[in-house]
Amino acid sequence: MAKDVLETKRLILRHWKGEDAESLYKYASNPDIGPIAGWPVHQSIQDSIGVIKNVFAKPYTYSVVLKETNEPIGCINLMIGKESNLKLPDNEGEIGYWIGVPYWGQGLIPEAAKEIIRFAFEVLKLQKLWCGYFVGNDKSKRVSEKCGFRFAETKKDVSCAIQGLLRDEHITSLSYAEWSAIK
Ligand SMILES: CC(C)(COP(=O)(O)OP(=O)(O)OC[C@H]1O[C@@H](n2cnc3c(N)ncnc32)[C@H](O)[C@@H]1OP(=O)(O)O)[C@@H](O)C(=O)NCCC(=O)NCCS
Repeated sequence: MAKDVLETKRLILRHWKGEDAESLYKYASNPDIGPIAGWPVHQSIQDSIGVIKNVFAKPYTYSVVLKETNEPIGCINLMIGKESNLKLPDNEGEIGYWIGVPYWGQGLIPEAAKEIIRFAFEVLKLQKLWCGYFVGNDKSKRVSEKCGFRFAETKKDVSCAIQGLLRDEHITSLSYAEWSAIK
């Protein structure tokens, strides 16, 4: 069951709309965001419009909207089963996220991720969640730690949405039982 809107203290998580393209471009055109997460820098508003239409139009891909300003400032998604490159069974999912540079360091993505995790376990009844980050991405490592994920394995030479780029990726996991003990 897809849920259209999730809410936390400071954030609304809702589906992306065409009119979000300007905000998406503002943040996704910064080279400190996409490449470290495995996708190319947005070069134009047209790029952002295309991504909203072709990449973000999925049931569990949410725009991270700051309640205070009502602006989309990041993205968080849950890829279930075959949607994940980790080749997961249908009762497991992988989460991915980013947030615009001006908003780094306020704990906003951990806040959003904890709500997605709750939704995945309590509503979707998934049994295990995964979170991967490329070697050296300590900021993402911290988010996964704050949410309770634990190191599982390192995958070598992983490809991504940037053609020809291979990197090693640390994979972390959080089972329903582990989450139940810390929630
Ligand atoms: C990873 C990311 C989503 C973290 O989101 P966030 O909401 O800033 O998360 P937090 O506030 O918990 O900060 C996480 C860590 O980032 C680091 N950090 C925070 N602000 C920072 C800043 N201004 N500059 C550099 N690093 C910073 C800190 O190490 C922090 O950990 P700490 O709280 O233990 O000090 C965000 O940095 C981002 O979008 N990065 C680029 C895209 C990306 O890497 N996505 C993940 C792909 S796997």
